[in-house]
Formats: sequence, C-alpha cells, structure tokens
Amino acid sequence: MNLSGKTIVITGVSSGIGGEVARLARFRGASVIGVDRNDAMLSLDGFIKIDLSNPTAIDATISKFPTRIDALINAAGVPGTADKDLVARVNYLGLRHLTESLIDRMPKGASIVNFASILGGEWPKRVEQHKKLAATTSFAEGQAWLSDFPVPQETCYQYFKEALIVWTMMRSNALFMKRDIRMNSVAPGPVFTPILGDFVTMLGQERVQADAGKMKRPALADEIAGPVLFLCSDDARWVSGINLPIDGGLAAVYV
Ligand SMILES: NC(=O)c1ccc[n+]([C@@H]2O[C@H](COP(=O)([O-])OP(=O)(O)OC[C@H]3O[C@@H](n4cnc5c(N)ncnc54)[C@H](O)[C@@H]3O)[C@@H](O)[C@H]2O)c1
Repeated sequence: MNLSGKTIVITGVSSGIGGEVARLARFRGASVIGVDRNDAMLSLDGFIKIDLSNPTAIDATISKFPTRIDALINAAGVPGTADKDLVARVNYLGLRHLTESLIDRMPKGASIVNFASILGGEWPKRVEQHKKLAATTSFAEGQAWLSDFPVPQETCYQYFKEALIVWTMMRSNALFMKRDIRMNSVAPGPVFTPILGDFVTMLGQERVQADAGKMKRPALADEIAGPVLFLCSDDARWVSGINLPIDGGLAAVYV
C-alpha cells in the first residue's frame, strides 16, 4: 500500500490506535499531521494541539491545517466512563465539526475514516433517532437536540458510536456524489490500548467474560492500522459509506 505524496491528518495521535496508524502511514510514505489534546511522543510531520470537545478551539486552529488534506482519520475518542456530555462532544459533535471544517481542503479522491466501534453495532435499533441527530447542522444544534432527547450515561459510548456510523453513511453519499470524497467508518473490537480497562469497567465483568470466550484475544493497535490506511489509499477508491469491522471476527459471533 503506497501512500507516497499523501498528506494525512490523524486525530488521537498521541496514544493507542491513532499513534500506530500514524507510524504505519509515515512508513508507507505519507506526510502525517497529528492532532491531539496531549503532546505527541512520536515522529510526525506536524502536530496541532486541540481540545476536540470545544468547537471554538477547533475553529481557532483550522488555519494551521495543511491547505491540501488527502485523508482525515478521526481516531480521537473517550470511553463511556467519561461524562456523557464529554463523550457526545468528543466522539460525535467535535468529530463532525472538525470534519466539516476541513472538507474544503480535501481534493477529489480524498478519504475520511471515522472510528466507530463494535459497540456501535446495534445502530439499526435506534436508526430514526440517529438520523434526526445527523440532520442537525452544527455543534450547537446537535447539543440542543441532545438536551431535548437525553442519552443515558450507562450507554452513551454505544449511542454515540451508533450515531457516528449512521452519520457516516448518510453524509458519505453527498460527499462522494458531489465532491468525489469518500467517507467510511471502522468498527474495532477490543484493542490493547490505555482505554481497554475503561471498557471493562463500562461493560461489566459478565459481558467481558462472555466476549472473551468468543475471541482469540484483543487486537494489537498495529493490527487496526492496516485496514484503516487501506481505506485512505487509492486502492479503496470505490469504497464509500461502509462500516468496516476490524475485530478478529467477533461481530460475526452475534449472528
Ligand atoms: N481500544 C479499544 O478497545 C477500542 C475499541 C473500539 C473502538 N475504539 C476507538 O478507537 C479510537 C482510539 O482509541 P484508543 O484505544 O487508541 O484510545 P486512547 O485513549 O489510547 O487514545 C485516544 C486519544 O484521543 C485523544 N483525545 C481524547 N479526547 C480528546 C480531546 N477532547 N481532544 C483531542 N484529543 C482527544 C487522547 O488524548 C488520546 O491520545 C477511539 O475513538 C475509541 O473509541 C477503541
């Protein structure tokens, strides 16, 4: 997979999966601009420090981004042990705000990859709600909708990953038809990163034990990087609007 000449922006680059995606992207020839609220401890071609939960902070840094972005990988995220308002802001509203703010910098053939999760797999159960949230056109409008239709703390992580899958599908059509930009999401199963313990707390031992019996092991972060970068490559030029599981087959056992 050759990514030479491509400029790729990766959020959540200072830890876990985002960091491994950045390493592999540079190895494959891309120029990588990292984004995170924390400083990055790896080699990058540029770094922009932003709190992605804050739309004003995002707006204030947009001028620092490259004028041409061939791929945007939205890997920043917080677990459901965080306050539900923060989960909404980082995992959905801020991600959407950053993406919409950068689209004018993306040429034909560009690619956007959003990090959902295997835990967003029940999106069809709530698809009508997710479509209404997706129809809101700004961070503030999304927040207002969420205050009218509050999300429970216990399932907020799943809810916003579901919502992200639905937004990705809905938004991808116009992006591909009108601008030749592809947008997809990926749905990892458990991955060995610093937030894996939060998922155990969030889901409870019973669910974790049940899942553990159905899979070989959690993924290593570099096992997620390859499929994500495939979606950014020209080889994936006809792949748009999908939610790609990267879970060692775990989702398949729920059939
Ligand atoms: N680890 C897993 O088991 C797993 C499974 C499925 C999906 N995911 C998703 O994959 C993505 C990456 O997760 P990870 O496991 O690498 O987690 P991680 O905690 O290792 O990395 C997340 C990164 O996002 C950054 N971030 C968080 N809030 C931010 C904010 N407000 N502004 C800017 N940056 C912020 C963090 O600083 C961190 O560098 C997330 O979206 C997560 O929900 C993870």
